[in-house]
Order: sequence, then structure tokens, then C-alpha cells
Amino acid sequence: MQLVTEDNITELAVERWATARDPRLSELMTALVRHLHEFAREVRLTEAEWMAAMQWLTRAGQISDDKREEFILASDVLGLSMLVVQMNHRLDPAATPATVLGPFHIEGSPELGYGEDMSDGVPGTPLYLSGTVRDLDGNPVAGGVLDVWQADTEGAYESQLPDVDEARLRAKYTTRQDGGYCVRTIAPKGYTIPMDGPVGDLVERTAISHFRPAHVHFLINVPGHEPLITHLFQEGAEYLDSDVVFGTKEELVVRFEQREPGATPEGGTSATPWVEGRYDFVLQRRS
Ligand code: BEZ
Ligand code: FE
Repeated sequence: MQLVTEDNITELAVERWATARDPRLSELMTALVRHLHEFAREVRLTEAEWMAAMQWLTRAGQISDDKREEFILASDVLGLSMLVVQMNHRLDPAATPATVLGPFHIEGSPELGYGEDMSDGVPGTPLYLSGTVRDLDGNPVAGGVLDVWQADTEGAYESQLPDVDEARLRAKYTTRQDGGYCVRTIAPKGYTIPMDGPVGDLVERTAISHFRPAHVHFLINVPGHEPLITHLFQEGAEYLDSDVVFGTKEELVVRFEQREPGATPEGGTSATPWVEGRYDFVLQRRS
């Protein structure tokens, strides 16, 4: 009979999980067991605390569905998502840095031409984001696809709005021969992460700000290059120093200049005041 004690239980559990047939799974599970046991010992976890944690995990599962991923949100606010992004995208310092994908990217966004409007009637101040996509040697990347998405000025993505079925505030733009791109959208605002679930319950028991600074998301996939998932943030935006998901990076902060009605970057004109941001993305070749 195996005699289990407080002193030998970690070793026994590690031995058991080391039998995973996939060597990487064995490595992951044995390390997880060691760290979980170490955590419980360090804080002298009580049974009531253990039960509260189990119930919290259950609620996180129950509130999740194909549009809401509470466990990913938990990973985001704990800084785990961003740590994993950084460890797995150690790019050249001259390349545009990566950030979290977030839960609101969807496949199949409409393809728009240079400077075409992805806001499609959603109210807001017109924003033009333009620049080039280049490689580390400065060569233009032609035909690169920029998948772009953002929240509306109330901070909502369509999946959060019960009466919005169709995709909005998202589009795919393709770079021209000179690597140039031009996105026409609306100026984003800072917004709160979903606070009506177990992640929100925990955050509310802290002094943590539950807001993200104003940003636009980009996923840039170009054959032969490292895929880039990133955001552009508005310079001077609130919450830049306290992004609840740790996604901000200095290199991704862009000045949004106010412009009077008149000529716009794609060759059109705006009858109303608009805002302009210029940003050159730098991609690293796949090694
Ligand atoms: C977002 O920016 O869309 C986002 C990222 C992480 C958690 C929640 C929202
Ligand atoms: Fe976002």
C-alpha cells in the first residue's frame, strides 16, 4: 500500500504525472503539480479557500461560450497571456512588437481597398491610420494583409451587443506595391473589460483599473515573415500606464493629429474634422 503523507504527496503526484506518454505533457504536468503544491504550502491554503477557488473556476466555465472566454480573460488580467506572447515573440528590437490577440478577433472580415471605410456608419470621429509595412532591411512588403478590428466609442465589440449580428468595425486591408496601407475607421476610446463575471468579481476586490487604453488591433500575416499580432494605442490616452491586460508598449503608441475638413490620405476629402495617425510596421523574416 502506498503511504501518503504531507511530506511525500508532491513526489508521489509528480511521479504519477511523469508517466504521460507525450514527453512535453509529462514536463508540463509535473511542473504544474510541483508549483501548485508549492503554492498551497506557501499560503497554507485552507479548505474554504480551496472550495472558493473551485467555485470560481466553475463559474468561469459556466459563463464562457463561443463568444466569451472567461479563462482567457483571467489569463490576460494575471499577465500570463502577455508573458507567453513575449516569450514566444522575441523579435529584433527594430521589429514592431507583438501584444495580446484578445477575445474579439474573428475570421472572415470584409476585404476593403486602400482608405476604404471600415466603420460603415458607426458614429465617431473619422480616423485615418496610414503608413507602410516593411521588413527589417527597409524593403516594402507588398500584398501583405492587415486584419484590423476595434471597439466602438462605447467600448463594445459586436459580440457584446445582443442586437448586432453582422461584423462591424473590422476589415482586411492589403498593402500596395510600395508597402503602403491606409485604414479609415473611427477614433477608438478606452473601454472596460467584461466585469460581470468571476474575473470582474476578483478585480473589483482590488485597486486594479479595469480599463484598456484606446487602441486599434492589427493582425498582419505575410508569407515568409513572422506573423504579427499587435495594437496601435493613441498617444496621451487614459489608462496607457495601467492597461488591465498589460498589452501596452511604448513602440506602439501613435500620435493622433487633429485635422480640419479637407484632403485625406487616400486622396479623398472629409467634410468634417478628422484625426490622422501615421505608423510604419516592421516585420521580421521568418527564420
Ligand atoms: C481587447 O483588446 O479586445 C481585449 C484584450 C484582452 C481582454 C479583453 C479585451
Ligand atoms: Fe480591443
